[in-house]
Amino acid sequence: MGKQILLLPGDGIGPEIVAEAKKVLDVVNDQFQLGLSFEEDLMGGCSIDKHGVPLADEALEKARQSDAILLGAVGGPKWDKLDRAIRPEKGLLKIRSSLELYANLRPAMLYPQLVEASSLKPEVVSGLDILIVRELTGGIYFGEPRGIRTLENGEREGFNTYKYSESEIERIGRTAFEMARKRNKKVCSVDKANVLEATMLWREVMDRLAPEYPDVELSHMYVDNAAMQLVREPKQFDVIVTGNMFGDILSDAAAMLTGSIGMLPSASLDKNGCGMYEPCHGSAPDIAGQGIANPLATILSAAMMLRYSLSMTDAADAIEAAVGKVLDQGLRTADIVTEGSRKVSTAEMGDAVVAALNS
Ligand code: NAD
Ligand code: IPM
Ligand code: MN
Repeated sequence: MGKQILLLPGDGIGPEIVAEAKKVLDVVNDQFQLGLSFEEDLMGGCSIDKHGVPLADEALEKARQSDAILLGAVGGPKWDKLDRAIRPEKGLLKIRSSLELYANLRPAMLYPQLVEASSLKPEVVSGLDILIVRELTGGIYFGEPRGIRTLENGEREGFNTYKYSESEIERIGRTAFEMARKRNKKVCSVDKANVLEATMLWREVMDRLAPEYPDVELSHMYVDNAAMQLVREPKQFDVIVTGNMFGDILSDAAAMLTGSIGMLPSASLDKNGCGMYEPCHGSAPDIAGQGIANPLATILSAAMMLRYSLSMTDAADAIEAAVGKVLDQGLRTADIVTEGSRKVSTAEMGDAVVAALNS
C-alpha cells in the first residue's frame, strides 16, 4: 500500500531545503519502488499570511492522516512582532503537541570528511556519534500557568511553568534506554536536579527505570556541566536524554561539533513511531532566498523518515551513503566550506546527492 508524506516547507530557507529533499525522495521512490505520494501544506508565517493562523485545522488534519511529515523550518522577522498566540513557532508547537510527538531524536554525527569544518580540534570530534533524546511535548514549553501579567506596582511580569509528570518522564526515559541498547549502551540524563524540583523528579524516575535496562549504564549530569562537557570531550557521550528546553539548547551546541547546524537532522516520534522529520536548525532569515543554505540536514531528515516511520531501510541507507559520497567529492555549501573543497549552492548540493544516488 502506498504511503502518504506531508511536506511542510515553512518559511525562510524552508522551501529551498525541502525542495532538495523532495528531489532526493523522488529518486529513491523510483529506484526502490517505495510507493510514496506527496502532499504539501502551509505551516508557520506562510500560513499566517494566508489563513491568519500558523497552523490551520485542515493542515493539522492532513498531518494526522499522513504516514509521515517532512518539515523545513518556520519563523522569521516578518512575524516576530505578532501577538504571541499566532507566532509561526506556535504552529510547530501545536503540531508536536497535537500529534503527541514527545520523542525528539537529534543525532549528532560527524562525517569524517567534515572534521576540518568543526570548530573543535580534530582529535576532540573525529568519530563523534551521539544521540540527543529531547522530550518534546512537555516541560517549560507547555507548562501552565504561563503568560505576562501586570503586578500591583504596575510593572509587568513574564512567567512560565516548568513541570514534568512521572509518566512523561518515564516514556522519554524508555526511548533513551531503548535507543542506547542499539548503540553504545550508555545513557546520560541531563537535568538541574540541584535546583529544580521538576528535574529532581526527572532524576528519580530515570533511576527507577534503570534496573529494567541492566545492559545500559545510566549516569546523571547537571545541564551546565553538560554544556561544558559537550565542547570539552563530546565523545564521552552516547545517548543524552533531557527535557524540552535543555534539549533544544544542547542540540544546537552538538550541531556545531558536526561542522554546521545545517548537518543535523531530527525525528519527532509518537508512541507508535509515527512522526515528523525536520532539520534542527531554523528558517535562517539571514541567508534565505540566496540559494546558499545547506540542505543536508533536511535530506538526512528524509532518510530518518524512511528508516523510522516507514521501515524503508534500504532507501534510507542509500541516501546516507549518497551524502557521504558527495562529501567525498569535496562539495560543500558555504557553512561547511574549508580550504581545498568546492563551494556549491543549495540546489547544486541536492543535485549532487541525486547524482550520487544514480551512480
Ligand atoms: P537558525 O537556526 O535559523 O539560524 C542560526 C544560524 O545558523 C544563522 O546564521 C543561519 O544562517 C545558520 N543556518 C541555519 N540553518 C542553516 C543551513 N541549513 N545552512 C546554512 N546555515 C544555516 O536560528 P535563528 O536565527 O535563531 O532563528 C531564525 C528563525 O527560525 C526564528 O524565527 C526561529 O524561531 C526559527 N526557528 C525555527 C525552527 C524550526 O522551525 N524547527 C528551529 C529553530 C529556529
Ligand atoms: C527547534 C526550534 C523550536 C524549539 C522553536 C522554533 C519552537 O528551536 O526545533 O529546535 O524550540 O523547539
Ligand atoms: Mn532549537
